[in-house]
Amino acid sequence: MLIAQISDPHVTTEGTVVRSLVDTPQRFADALATCAALPKVPDVILLTGDLVNDGTAEEYALLAEALAEAPCPVLPIPGNHDDPLLLHATFAALDVCGAALPDPRSGPFHYVVDDHPVRLVALDSTVAGHHHGQVTEQSAAWLDATLTAAPERPTMLFMHHVPYATGAWWFDYSGIDGRDLLREVLVRHPQVLRVVSGHVHRATSTQWGHLTLSSAPSTAFLSGTGVGDGPPLIVDQRAAPQLFAVDGDSLVASEADLPGLRLSIDMRDLVQDWSTYESVTRSRGPVSKDMFGG
Ligand SMILES: [Fe+2]
Ligand SMILES: [Fe+2]
Repeated sequence: MLIAQISDPHVTTEGTVVRSLVDTPQRFADALATCAALPKVPDVILLTGDLVNDGTAEEYALLAEALAEAPCPVLPIPGNHDDPLLLHATFAALDVCGAALPDPRSGPFHYVVDDHPVRLVALDSTVAGHHHGQVTEQSAAWLDATLTAAPERPTMLFMHHVPYATGAWWFDYSGIDGRDLLREVLVRHPQVLRVVSGHVHRATSTQWGHLTLSSAPSTAFLSGTGVGDGPPLIVDQRAAPQLFAVDGDSLVASEADLPGLRLSIDMRDLVQDWSTYESVTRSRGPVSKDMFGG
């Protein structure tokens, strides 16, 4: 199963400060197109929060325009910039999830998708009206019960806030409370292969024992290098969707190519005798310089 992750697209309308810097709707559309053009189209895309920048209906309309071109089901989780009701309405109208999303009026935006070889668990870490995140006692209890219900199923957990301290104040000032609650739950459920998040707009990762937790870079714009107490920079760097290829209980993390690369060379044009080279390397045979030609 191939899972893609797109995070923090911050789609917004013309006239906003963010849009004056970056065409975020276009970059979100580019990220979806990148997934569509992969040699293997992902089975699902996890959209890990901050789908829009200001939580307005106009922004969600722009988001919906791009989502209409999604090449596979897209599973969202709200971030601190989202309006959960508008997010829910947008996805309900599009029917792009392949799953029933929870009604935000009934409680946190937690849900489970059981239709794939990997069980996908969405954990809502948002705190209404705040930028930081929280794993509450109730959230931890929900997660514990959810994971207890399927201990044999390889599982991926996705959330918006990074559930660990990165060590950089610009990332951590709006970090998450209750991370110990989350860790206490996850340590009891080794079927969780990976925890993925967003929010800090940069790729980070850590280990909790055998479990890898990571954040995806924003596909709109990045935060400045997350080391030490540097200035709170927003940098116009592009990032590609993250990829997770899962086979049984084995997970390989990678990333797609950035859209619009200036240089893309097909190795078959460089190797003089590609068919011999390919068959030799596939069979782990010895490679000679003659195969490469001049
Ligand atoms: Fe964000
Ligand atoms: Fe965020």
